[in-house]
Amino acid sequence: MLLRIASHPSTQRLIVNRPGHHLVNIIQRRILHRIPDYKKLPNLPKHTVLKDGTNVLVDSATEKQIGDIYTQFHGAMHRGQGYGHDDFLSLDHFKEKHSRGQIFSLVDQDADRLIGGITIYPSRLSRASNPVLAGSNFIVTQEYRGRGCIKLLNRLYSELADEIGYEGCLGEIHVNNAPVIKACRDNPIWELIERLPKTSYVKDYGWIDSVIVYCDLTNKSNTH
Ligand SMILES: CC(C)(COP(=O)(O)OP(=O)(O)OC[C@H]1O[C@@H](n2cnc3c(N)ncnc32)[C@H](O)[C@@H]1OP(=O)(O)O)[C@@H](O)C(=O)NCCC(=O)NCCS
Repeated sequence: MLLRIASHPSTQRLIVNRPGHHLVNIIQRRILHRIPDYKKLPNLPKHTVLKDGTNVLVDSATEKQIGDIYTQFHGAMHRGQGYGHDDFLSLDHFKEKHSRGQIFSLVDQDADRLIGGITIYPSRLSRASNPVLAGSNFIVTQEYRGRGCIKLLNRLYSELADEIGYEGCLGEIHVNNAPVIKACRDNPIWELIERLPKTSYVKDYGWIDSVIVYCDLTNKSNTH
């Protein structure tokens, strides 16, 4: 009989009970893959420039910015843009969803205005208790849409996930979210893997399928 008796994040303990021998062997096996350090912060802040010359500062979101970023996600959810009707029900729900993840802000450095936010967290599409693949949510405020932010967010997703220690990114995009699907199609580090049926219920639309996209961060040509 084989029993798993402990679930410490970095070790598995197996007891092998051989009937007749009354022998108990305890085998400790270290899991060999690296486990992402969810609290680890990459080199921040990062400075980057949009194609229209806007200076962008990417940093760990402050408590105030987390509230503002949540408001943006909540609004998108209500407009049926990219998220299901129950994705971000309250600020507490938003924080809980990212409790093992991280929330980053994008700020227009010159105007001192919020451009958007991106979160990196352990993928929900995994059976492991410590997934090595990162999921992400991201948003651009209405004011800053149409200025090429999607390419930046697409790059930040893989870059931040790599710096935190994930081995890959596993993203989920509604099939009607053309800008995000296009950004992945245009960037060779991303593979469009599969279509999952009825992943979200979107306001004024109904059930929608998702395209699953993957970026392998153990392939060094995919990292920055
Ligand atoms: C998705 C989102 C981040 C994109 O940001 P954005 O500022 O609107 O997009 P950008 O201006 O950077 O780029 C849009 C690109 O998509 C293209 N695009 C827009 N609508 C399109 C359509 N219907 N079909 C094909 N391409 C389209 C544009 O031509 C542009 O391509 P280009 O970069 O090659 O010029 C933003 O719209 C948003 O916050 N949406 C709500 C939340 C969301 O969907 N988050 C992601 C969930 S997976």
